[in-house]
Amino acid sequence: MKKLLFLLGSVLLTGAVIPVNAQVAADKALHLAIQQYKQMMTHVPDSLLPRTTDNKTGKLVTSGTEWWTSGFYPGTLWYLYEYSKDKTILKEARKRTTEVEKEQYNKTTHDLGFMMYCSFGNAYRLTGNPKDKQVLITSARTLTTRFNPVVGCIKSWDHGKWKFPVIIDNMMNLELLTWATKETGDTSFAHIARTHANTTMKNHFRPDFSSYHVIGYDPATGAVVARNTAQGFADSSAWARGQAWGLYGYTMMFRETKDGAYLEQAKQIANYIIPHLPADKIPYWDFDAPDIPNAKRDASAGAVMASALLELSQYTKNQTYFQTAEQILQTLSSDEYLAKAGTNNNFILKHSVGHLPANSEVDVPLTYADYYFVEALLRYKKYSK
Ligand code: GLY
Repeated sequence: MKKLLFLLGSVLLTGAVIPVNAQVAADKALHLAIQQYKQMMTHVPDSLLPRTTDNKTGKLVTSGTEWWTSGFYPGTLWYLYEYSKDKTILKEARKRTTEVEKEQYNKTTHDLGFMMYCSFGNAYRLTGNPKDKQVLITSARTLTTRFNPVVGCIKSWDHGKWKFPVIIDNMMNLELLTWATKETGDTSFAHIARTHANTTMKNHFRPDFSSYHVIGYDPATGAVVARNTAQGFADSSAWARGQAWGLYGYTMMFRETKDGAYLEQAKQIANYIIPHLPADKIPYWDFDAPDIPNAKRDASAGAVMASALLELSQYTKNQTYFQTAEQILQTLSSDEYLAKAGTNNNFILKHSVGHLPANSEVDVPLTYADYYFVEALLRYKKYSK
């Protein structure tokens, strides 16, 4: 039935208007999300953010505000508040957003976009609170301190075997910068975002438009000195969430700049990803995992892909993009992936993979899977209207 409900939405791009049933299916998943998060807020200690489940003990794992995923719980709450207008959710969203505020000065991470734009960005979008705007501008300034003009990129990590590593994930942090230029008129933020996106387009992609996870640069010359993976199966493989970050990142950069080169890149990435998805459209954790079809699936990569493909379908009017997103959402809304109320430590989705080579967060819920799933459901509802 759920399958039928979602698939009825896919005729929309052809001009027929049968939105009601697709809306019902998305609403059901969103109501479950609200139930789960209203429970979750009664369990999470102050100043800690829900991250995942420990798959040995089954217990909730939380993180401090400095961890890269700290913005997703407040961000999901803002999306659920936007949908429900529920004041209890609003209160928790504001409280948890405020907890992340001190990270605006954190120069040790490239993930300030994830951390601050998902939390404070949604807060500002929905409330217009000038304090949120100031926090975001400071965060954007902090992020620019990691930019090296010789390399043409923001540095991702201060650890590891590389002098200047850049990971494909970093595309996701650029929206904070394009936003900052729009709000302040200071073009240096967007210039850094575009330069990073252009350098990444040149060096991170293979001829088939799959991407490497990590590119190591020489910070003195900007030369590429290494092409590696950290979270994928092999240097030469296509780590699923990395493919998702690239797709989302270039779709977002097209929205923000209207530069057709970014749209073309996003289309090429989508055209690489889609034929590599299994029948139910939830990616294996790595497209080249050696044990496919028994390899673990990554619901988080599926959720990011669904959200990005929905947006990309609006710019391209490409039905395959829309229908693939719809199929992903349909599978994620099935009993296999969607938690039953009161289970799964109150996360919404099951079966994500964080870092399989490190045997960390394998086949567990992840806070960012929930964030992009809820975002995708809201986009789906909007585009199905
Ligand atoms: N940015 C880290 C990850 O996608 O796991």
